[in-house]
Amino acid sequence: MYILGIDFGSKYLKAALCVRDYQTSGISVKKTVKLPHRASRQGTMIDLVKAKEVFGQMLEKIKCDINESIDEYVINVSGENVGSYSGTSTIPLWKQENEERRVRITRSHVNEVLKAAKMTAYNKDDKVELHSIPQEFQIDDQPATLNPIDMSGIKLKSTVYVIQTDKSHRENICSIFDSFGIKNYRLVFSPLATAEAVIDEDDKEAGVIVISLGDQTTELTVYLNGILRMSKMIPFGSNYITKDLKILLKTDYPTANRIKKTVATAFPGDADPEKMIQVENSSSQKTEFSEEYIAKITEARLKEIFEFVTREIYKGSYQRMIHSPVIITGPASCLKGTEKLFSEMNNSKTTCGKAMDIRSEKEELTPDFFTAAGLVKYAVVNDIFSDRDEAEEGGFMSRIKQFVADLF
Ligand SMILES: Nc1ncnc2c1ncn2[C@@H]1O[C@H](COP(=O)(O)OP(=O)(O)OP(=O)(O)O)[C@@H](O)[C@H]1O
Ligand SMILES: [Mg+2]
Repeated sequence: MYILGIDFGSKYLKAALCVRDYQTSGISVKKTVKLPHRASRQGTMIDLVKAKEVFGQMLEKIKCDINESIDEYVINVSGENVGSYSGTSTIPLWKQENEERRVRITRSHVNEVLKAAKMTAYNKDDKVELHSIPQEFQIDDQPATLNPIDMSGIKLKSTVYVIQTDKSHRENICSIFDSFGIKNYRLVFSPLATAEAVIDEDDKEAGVIVISLGDQTTELTVYLNGILRMSKMIPFGSNYITKDLKILLKTDYPTANRIKKTVATAFPGDADPEKMIQVENSSSQKTEFSEEYIAKITEARLKEIFEFVTREIYKGSYQRMIHSPVIITGPASCLKGTEKLFSEMNNSKTTCGKAMDIRSEKEELTPDFFTAAGLVKYAVVNDIFSDRDEAEEGGFMSRIKQFVADLF
């Protein structure tokens, strides 16, 4: 059974055709395709005609040497109009007429408190939900639990993490599938998919921060005690470094991008102040700049991006987790010195993201395709294509998720 992960990035559409890997309960990538386009900016679609065009080209390339049909499609949603909010609510369990105030919690209590929590996370009528992820429950002053059913208490508190986007944004993405007659598809918030590609369930349980650097976006995801705590998209990325290099080195964009990939380091301490780099300028002459100067430009901009990320981590009060390994990934994390800079700024231990439970039949999967493959892994791990009956058979959390999904 084929599942296609489609990462509609700001400049490239990257797709990964995958199958479930029943041996590792992960996934196996059969084929990847990467195509340039001009259909979106900073993760948001701005030209639907061009989007459909490149989507069609991608489908042709993916399907050209497979015999079976594609069963499921998972596409990412990104952009500034995706927001994530935490909602918390407490409901009393007892009724006035009851003599015994302590009540045993049933599924309908859970249903009620999740619905109330979710209402507090909604902020606008023109928004539509992408994900709602239940957090812990708390009964009176007892320790938090993931499963409050059959426990007794007077009041029940719950928190739900809701990720929502504009209705029109969702409709635009859905219209691409509609125009190709594809029905079996799901939308997943991009940072969730990228994080899924580089972590496993043990990481989620132990607590992990994943930062993914893209061209026009930076993604941040935090898991703690096995539960998603935060997932955000910051609307700027590595292209700002290229733009700075272009201006300050007085060159064109492609040259600046090449210098970023081959010469630049985000850690000036590693650059040679004596080594001069020849840069072609717009009048075809060459100017020389020291490697250290190029590194300082690069460092300044990446520092700014990391400051945005750290601010979000602090806003969510997850700063303590910065000292456990932080995983940095994404195509732009290939910039030399990236992890070292984050590590020095935050006194943290950083590691480079590696594909987890994702096998690749040919060469090793590069960070370029982590989001595309992560979309498929997210769909498999969270069983997002299963219907209600299947979800009922699953664990408690999947049933809870189904409750929440059914509430609206
Ligand atoms: N070796 C490298 N060193 C430095 N930067 C790199 C390297 N390889 C790729 N990059 C940068 O990574 C970015 C990759 O862009 P691409 O559009 O593929 O990312 P993306 O994750 O799809 O973007 P987004 O999700 O923001 O739309 C570019 O800015 C590119 O210059
Ligand atoms: Mg991306």
